[in-house]
Amino acid sequence: MRIRNFLACAMASVALFSMGAQAAELRIVHGSVGKDHEMLRAHLDTFEANSGHTVKIVSMPESTTDQFGQYKLWLAAQSSDIDVYRVDVIWASQIATHFIDLAPHVADIIDQFVPAAVESQTVNGKLVALPMFLGAPALYYRKDLLDKYSESVPATWQQLTVTAKKIQDAERAAGNDKMWGFVFQGAAYEGLTCDAQEWVASFGGGRIVELDGTISINNDKAAEAIDLAASWIGTIAPEGVLSYKEEDARGVWQTGNAVFMRNWNYAYALSAGDDSAVKGKFAVSILPSGGGDNSSAATLGGWHLGVTKYSKNQDAAIALVRYLNSYDVQKDRAILTSRPPTLSAVYTDAEVMEKQPFVPLWKPVVDNALPRPSIATKRNYNEVSKEFWSAVHATLSGDGTASVNLAKLEKKLKRLKGAGW
Ligand code: GLC
Repeated sequence: MRIRNFLACAMASVALFSMGAQAAELRIVHGSVGKDHEMLRAHLDTFEANSGHTVKIVSMPESTTDQFGQYKLWLAAQSSDIDVYRVDVIWASQIATHFIDLAPHVADIIDQFVPAAVESQTVNGKLVALPMFLGAPALYYRKDLLDKYSESVPATWQQLTVTAKKIQDAERAAGNDKMWGFVFQGAAYEGLTCDAQEWVASFGGGRIVELDGTISINNDKAAEAIDLAASWIGTIAPEGVLSYKEEDARGVWQTGNAVFMRNWNYAYALSAGDDSAVKGKFAVSILPSGGGDNSSAATLGGWHLGVTKYSKNQDAAIALVRYLNSYDVQKDRAILTSRPPTLSAVYTDAEVMEKQPFVPLWKPVVDNALPRPSIATKRNYNEVSKEFWSAVHATLSGDGTASVNLAKLEKKLKRLKGAGW
């Protein structure tokens, strides 16, 4: 195997040099949950063998908010240390000026990508990043426990509140004192903006800032949604949920200590893995709604690949971005991590359908997922989101009611907006 890799590598290098190209040493900066880095390394090994380039992974903390802080420093310094950045779906407008336009370099393949994903990464006609994978969360539930207590999958958040408490209390009485009803992302960071946008939208409370730029968050329905979420802390969710990110929630869930979890797609493959205590015991549903005529809302997530203007190896970096988004790599990623791909054809690939049916099953949820107000608020999005998650976090922590905190939030957002976003 080693010898074969070596030969492939040597032959690729010969081919590369005979074309007059230089072998580059690339760096890709990439956050990680679950087994992301293991999988990325395997993909990079193949790229190295085929191209003659080498690629180092620069690891990032799990939180997208922390990643953004670090990225901003590198980009402001016009650092050439990083060639390829994996960027969150919400950042395109905020980072556009630091990235090359990928459009001319992917013109031959761009039609194969999910159009909305391409649009989300296009700023004033410039393709800032090539879409890598998408995200639309699910309600993960313990099918075995719902069956045991003759409960059905909750269609509303109010039903979830009742069912979670009933099963949690019964399981504790039966001896599992670690059991909780519901875990989610409650820390003060971007993840809470995603969760809370779902609560608010699914109660009919709008989208924080509407598409036309109107600040809509200070309304009764939004307050009702966030007050209900505040009632979960210490009753169906541990106090610690106030500092939970994705992996903390998954940790509790995957050791068998939660009835329900809100999480992204990646948690599916891991929950179904051989080392998971919930393997064979869980299923997924769309998130609940606020009842009445309201429908469920799933925040749109995803990560994409951009090449910085400051890279000294742009051609090789573009080749890497194309490779990591090629059909075979996207297919492998969909099967291994259960993440929604950005190449439309991968959803109907026979092997994906057989080995990871969650991916095709979730396509309609992905297609209808709710973007965050990053388009409307442009370069201000991060500040808007920070003010929103802070107001929600204060309410969840018992520091003021939702209506008081949303009124204060509205004032702050108006100041931020000034004459326009
Ligand atoms: C996931 C999503 C990303 C979102 C983040 C919040 O990684 O893909 O879009 O910002 O979660 O924690």
